[in-house]
Amino acid sequence: MIALQNVCKSFQDGDVKHAVIKDLSLSFPQQSSISITGASGSGKSTLLHLLAALDTPDSGSIIVDDLKITELSTKQADEYRKHYLGFVFQRFNLIDCLSVWDNLCFSARLTKRFDEDYIDSLVQRLGIEDLKHKLPQTLSGGEQQRVAIARALAHKPKLILADEPTGNLDDKNSENVVQLLFELCETLQTTLILVTHSQPIASSAKLHYCLRDGQLHPQSRDTG
Ligand SMILES: Nc1ncnc2c1ncn2[C@@H]1O[C@H](COP(=O)(O)OP(=O)(O)O)[C@@H](O)[C@H]1O
Ligand SMILES: [Mg+2]
Repeated sequence: MIALQNVCKSFQDGDVKHAVIKDLSLSFPQQSSISITGASGSGKSTLLHLLAALDTPDSGSIIVDDLKITELSTKQADEYRKHYLGFVFQRFNLIDCLSVWDNLCFSARLTKRFDEDYIDSLVQRLGIEDLKHKLPQTLSGGEQQRVAIARALAHKPKLILADEPTGNLDDKNSENVVQLLFELCETLQTTLILVTHSQPIASSAKLHYCLRDGQLHPQSRDTG
């Protein structure tokens, strides 16, 4: 269970305090997929940062499983991210000097969860077998996206946070890769919280919310 309780987050903009998340209370079941849409600047990335303990709310608390992540020390927050979370960023953020295979193994080795057969199965599933020995800069955007998804899952995290994982790739192909992320998370019983501007992707999640005026508004499948 992921629970947000009276979470408030604002940023100072000159003399003005700009409230981004406004007294948000909500809980998500574990092992589910949750999509979040919303206008640019509505606070989607801010919310993911709070869930990643990369930032702290002004008030309120966030609980992931039994862990109150809003009360962690810097070191505990590092451990939480390292062991518990997988990320897919908009720009994919692969490590340029490491081969694709070493990118995939990096966090798994760090967390002592390196499982070669499992990572190989992700590689097969994402169709990136031929890229294993290449460097990230030599890959197309679509290939980098596949690698980024495999990397997010490689250390068997319990929660994946994906912030517009289609990057600037707008084609159908890229959406299909994100659909694959849904399938993989379901098979691996990993919770997925995904920010997207794509309605078809958002509707593929079990729960879809729109972030507006600092609150998450549930969206029905029919209304998108
Ligand atoms: N570190 C920060 N300092 C100041 N303002 C910020 C910071 N991060 C985000 N904001 C502001 O908070 C609002 C929400 O930003 P963000 O969460 O990035 O929106 P989204 O991801 O939905 O586009 C924006 O107005 C943005 O300028
Ligand atoms: Mg954003």
